[in-house]
Amino acid sequence: TSGGRFEAENASISQGVVESNHAGYSGTGFVNYDSASGAYVQWTVSAAAAGPVTLALGYANGTSADRPMDVRVNGALVAGGMSFAGTGAWTTWQTRTLTVNLPAGTSTVRATATTAAGGPNVDYLEVRP
Ligand code: GCU
Repeated sequence: TSGGRFEAENASISQGVVESNHAGYSGTGFVNYDSASGAYVQWTVSAAAAGPVTLALGYANGTSADRPMDVRVNGALVAGGMSFAGTGAWTTWQTRTLTVNLPAGTSTVRATATTAAGGPNVDYLEVRP
């Protein structure tokens, strides 16, 4: 499996904007989801062989309210309403992880906001073989 870090600012973004006004992110910025259910960031990753990997999503949520997201791999829901709780500040970045099975070849990983508040600010997706 080809692991590594995939920056949100280089991913496919629907209803979100790349910003860099909250320090501590990796790469050149992060994605500020629009305040809309359905807003998403989608990454393309690849695996040499099928098997389980850990996905880590780097994020910040400076509010005290959860910003849940659905996580889909190749269109299939693998985590519904996954919690992205407040991190204390927009400059405090944390990770949330889940384990998924990837097929061999390229896969899409999409993180979609499920509430009208939109997602948290998302920094990256990391694939950990
Ligand atoms: C603030 C913050 C943004 C964040 C937004 C939100 O405007 O500066 O980075 O995305 O709140 O609530 O989503």
